[in-house]
Amino acid sequence: MAVSALGYIGLEVCDIAGWDSFLHDVVGLMRGTPTPAGIATYRIDDQAQRLCLHHGASDDLGYLGFQVRDPAALQAVARQLEHDGFGVELASGDQCAERRVMEMIRTTDPDGLGVEIFCGPYLAPECPFRSTVCSGFVTADQGLGHVVLSVADPDAARRFYEQALGFRLSDFVVLGPPGESIEIVFLHCNPRHHTVALAPLSGGKRLLHFMVQMQTLDDVGSALDRCSAGDVPLSMGLGRHTNDYMVSFYAVTPSGFDVEIGSGARTVDDATWRVERHAAVSIWGHRRSQ
Ligand SMILES: [Fe+2]
Repeated sequence: MAVSALGYIGLEVCDIAGWDSFLHDVVGLMRGTPTPAGIATYRIDDQAQRLCLHHGASDDLGYLGFQVRDPAALQAVARQLEHDGFGVELASGDQCAERRVMEMIRTTDPDGLGVEIFCGPYLAPECPFRSTVCSGFVTADQGLGHVVLSVADPDAARRFYEQALGFRLSDFVVLGPPGESIEIVFLHCNPRHHTVALAPLSGGKRLLHFMVQMQTLDDVGSALDRCSAGDVPLSMGLGRHTNDYMVSFYAVTPSGFDVEIGSGARTVDDATWRVERHAAVSIWGHRRSQ
């Protein structure tokens, strides 16, 4: 049994108002109902909450929430985590209510990041997802999107995400000159090319960026226009990635890390997928801003 999707993320941010405007007005998310504890939530589809904003000083990722199919799968993942030496805590009813899920366990990855595994997310089809600025996001069996994490020990991180949680290898991207190169590992748990990528860059923020995939290329272009109109800085301009074929750009969030806004990615079919190695992140574009 393995995790099947990125269900939600929790961010700890200084500027809640700036983030609210960024997510709603620029990216195009929908404001959700605050949690019982009053935490601001955001939606990108009919799932009741996909992104939570917690007030705090780190301006970084607080936790990841991965979905499994059912309670039996949750128990299987808990057993695997314990077998592999990772502590597991069963979430209380109040903690599950905060995340709007049926059942949840909690652990931490080798870099100390809070990782929650859950089943039974609350849906809100009675209040359908609406964006005020875009036609919608690609989610369903591909989950919320993807995250790229900085990790101190890639081997330890791979043991956690691949061995314990059941992620499968998609490919590698090697960057930099020989002798100084770094290798980014891309992992999938559903047809999305990668749900987690691991970059050996310790010391900075744990989250390098998270990605949301829009329905159309026009949605991405319109988001680019909104960034320009709203003076939202870009860290990388429009381009297409070598490995997932995503056409995207990278906007700087109010916390300093990036959000990747993209469209048109290819998907992974495990029956035919072969692991590849790339020597560049982009086929074209993705020029870094000065
Ligand atoms: Fe990305």
